[in-house]
Amino acid sequence: GMPTKVRIYEVGPRDGLQIEKSVVPTADKLEFIRGLVAAGLPAVEIASFVSPRWVPQLADAHDVTSGALVEASRTRMPVLVPNERGLERALAAGAREVAVFASATETFAQRNLNRGVDAALEMFAPVVAAAQEQQVPVRGYVSMCFGDPWEGQVPMDQVVSVAVRLREMGCASISIGDTIGVATPGHVTALIDALRAAGLEPERLAMHFHDTYGQALANVTAALAAGVTEFDSSAGGIGGCPYAGSATGNLATEDLVWLLTGLGIEHGVDLDALSRLSLWMAERLGRPSPSRVLAALTRD
Ligand code: HMG
Ligand code: MG
Repeated sequence: GMPTKVRIYEVGPRDGLQIEKSVVPTADKLEFIRGLVAAGLPAVEIASFVSPRWVPQLADAHDVTSGALVEASRTRMPVLVPNERGLERALAAGAREVAVFASATETFAQRNLNRGVDAALEMFAPVVAAAQEQQVPVRGYVSMCFGDPWEGQVPMDQVVSVAVRLREMGCASISIGDTIGVATPGHVTALIDALRAAGLEPERLAMHFHDTYGQALANVTAALAAGVTEFDSSAGGIGGCPYAGSATGNLATEDLVWLLTGLGIEHGVDLDALSRLSLWMAERLGRPSPSRVLAALTRD
């Protein structure tokens, strides 16, 4: 049956803002993060300590992280780190939780990390070890788990192999990414089954859906039925990935919340407060939010 409680892992300030054309001022990012915390999100991914030349939108990661963490709330505030330099910067800014991001395909690994799948995992190993030494939990992302814009449909054993290696490295949870939003529910169920067969229990997975083809909520429902209890989404559905041109925004948090509430699954998020915040951010970004729930709730 369905779980009774789900954790929403909000990625708006990171996955959302990393691809927006306008660079959001640091003060607005901090207001956004404060609003997400106030709306009850239990985990908010707030920044990336990557090369500022690769992702200029998040070049203020230090100020965002140190600023957000000042108001030490119970909200988890993980940040992305690609390498040891990134981890050092993240810890110096006060981060207490980090994420590394691997790829199931060679092409995306090259484009996103400037090295192949194996070399990227080799880059992450010392990062995960150093974080663990400091009791800093690490999430391991796997991108392109369903389809890849250059390689087409992605074989499940490629995904399983990368996910297992991240787990063996010491990642506490693994986020299965549909980076370009091409997954459909049958594929989701089959992949979760394959991961479980390899020893990766659904309780320690998260699903990360982008809504390019409008399948994200159907995919969430399939993953819930398979026992997954953590889902990534972005407030207002902002975002995409700068190195995967065909990716649109993440599943909107508002849409996810509406589904979970309807299913009677506990999530702890205040939908009204979140909607007001997403409208405010849409104004700042100068484009309407793609969230259907947000549009329905705020129609005059
Ligand atoms: P590289 O060029 O191979 O690395 O990039 P390098 O070591 O040769 O360094 C190149 C330059 O970057 C140097 O600066 C370094 O100092 C600097 P330069 O001398 O040219 O001025 N540098 C750094 N600066 C700050 N912080 C660092 C850092 N490391 C190097 N940590 C690298 C390798 C990984 C750094 C690069 O490829 C990169 O930054 N990639 C980031 C890509 C990215 O952020 N993608 C988006 C996140 S993934 C995603 O969105 C998918 C996800 O949402 C899940 C899903 O949807 O599937 C998670
Ligand atoms: Mg993403």
